[in-house]
Amino acid sequence: MSKIIIALDGFSSCGKSTTAKRVAAQLHYAFVDTGAMYRAVALYFQRNQVDCGNLEAVEKALDEVHITFEFNPERQASDTFLNGENVENEIRKMYISDIVSQVSAIPTVRHAMVAQQQKMGKKKGVVMDGRDVGTVVFPDAEVKIFMTADPKIRAQRRKLELMQKGEDLPIEQIVENLKIRDEIDSNRSEGPLKRAVDAIDLDTSYKSMDEQVAFVLEQVRRVQ
Ligand code: C5P
Repeated sequence: MSKIIIALDGFSSCGKSTTAKRVAAQLHYAFVDTGAMYRAVALYFQRNQVDCGNLEAVEKALDEVHITFEFNPERQASDTFLNGENVENEIRKMYISDIVSQVSAIPTVRHAMVAQQQKMGKKKGVVMDGRDVGTVVFPDAEVKIFMTADPKIRAQRRKLELMQKGEDLPIEQIVENLKIRDEIDSNRSEGPLKRAVDAIDLDTSYKSMDEQVAFVLEQVRRVQ
């Protein structure tokens, strides 16, 4: 069967990455978490105090940012590396969630990341999750899913995820972070979070992970 591109876009904490990872494993496809790439850039900018308003500084910083993924057999998932350092845990922390949307809204940052993502999916056989995969990165993706979920459920899921990683934060802080990120991500000029006109909707509010995976696999079967 010929390989295709599967784009999973949508809001934070709708289960995109977990679904994408499992679909990729079932199909023996590669999985690319584009959010991890923007998070790694945000971490670099934070550590090096890069001024987001200074285009020259942003361009210089981007030249110094090298993001790679390596499979971690213990987690059965890929870890994100920034210039050779495993930053998988660090980029998931709240202080990165608090700044990532400002960094990812910079057009130069987006151009650099989109170019890398297009390279990663050039040979197809990839499941990529993000905000603009079906609209900008791969507008010709064979399967495009747009994932949504009730904001309260998303916040609960995020809280659980952060707790498992050792960060116990008040639900109000998480709700606020998701709200601000949604707003910035949806309203930026370049690659805003937007449903592709030909995307299929998937509301994950009351769906189990097995159901989400089955739904995506069903869409794959339809095009093959
Ligand atoms: O998917 P995740 O929540 O980890 O993404 C973190 C942030 O990265 C998003 O809130 C958004 O600002 C940015 N992002 C983006 N475009 C993508 C993926 C993520 O702007 N394709």
